[in-house]
Amino acid sequence: MTMMTDVQFHAPTAKTRLYGLLGHPVGHSLSPVLHNRFFAENRIDGVYLAFDVLPEKLGEAVAGLKAMNLAGANVTIPHKESVMAHLDAISDEAFLAGAVNTIVREVSSKTAEVRYVGHNTDGAGLLEAISKQGVEIAGRSVSLIGAGGAAKGILAALVLRGVSGVKIYNRSLERAEGLVTALSTMVGHQVPMECHTLSNFPEHSHEIIIQTTSVGMGDGKSPVDATALTGKEIVCDIVYKPQITPLLETALSKGCTCIYGKDMLFYQAMLAEMLWQGRQFETASLKNWFDGL
Ligand code: ATR
Repeated sequence: MTMMTDVQFHAPTAKTRLYGLLGHPVGHSLSPVLHNRFFAENRIDGVYLAFDVLPEKLGEAVAGLKAMNLAGANVTIPHKESVMAHLDAISDEAFLAGAVNTIVREVSSKTAEVRYVGHNTDGAGLLEAISKQGVEIAGRSVSLIGAGGAAKGILAALVLRGVSGVKIYNRSLERAEGLVTALSTMVGHQVPMECHTLSNFPEHSHEIIIQTTSVGMGDGKSPVDATALTGKEIVCDIVYKPQITPLLETALSKGCTCIYGKDMLFYQAMLAEMLWQGRQFETASLKNWFDGL
């Protein structure tokens, strides 16, 4: 029997840098296996652990990671918004998104002062997944389903990358309008945005559809009717369990290009690594492995 050559993992030493995930709960997160494999493949002397942090302990946890000089961290539910108050600075994208998913340790080259800066790679991760399908998002029109926290982060990324317009479809029209008002207050009206109720999702008029609600998460439902799709659309669903949501099942059967929540998860992690390590990486073989998980 031949053994498959596999990635070599190394035991930590006194020089190993520590990275972590702050969330609650974190037991099912794929981030530790993904980042530790990334370190092994790229021969980076790092270890990534998941920390289950209760909401009332978040301030202490961030103070602890600063005191212990952690090299970087990710932040997940329920801390993405509340963590901002504990950081030294916030990137423009995270500020617009109103949420942080990545903490970067920055050292000033002049004063050697250390700062922990909040970034958000969720929206950019989705756009990276779209671009890997050969689709250029700039100048395209997007139909965004949902107006919650996840939609806000994606909308911020879409606006920063110059889409031609966004139509937001949400169950509650008021919430969609609130989201547009909040974003326009910060960035002005550079991208035309319209709000509609989800029940008015039209047929045959979409270029790129991005689904950001929890509908489809194990409930067997799609937020929109199959008749809305012609087969020419690019359809993204940020739900990653199940990997093929009812919306994506319909989209696949019609021949649409599909982008999965798991792709977004992968690329937000790769963008966090780019921020932490300060350079780009070849990620194709890691993506192949991740797709098989
Ligand atoms: P997240 O941070 O994951 O985006 P959220 O801020 O609670 O979570 O937002 C949930 C989104 O899913 C909202 O757009 C919500 O619509 P409403 O604003 O009308 O509540 C949407 N959503 C949740 N359950 C839904 C359902 N059964 N049908 C349609 N939309 C739903």
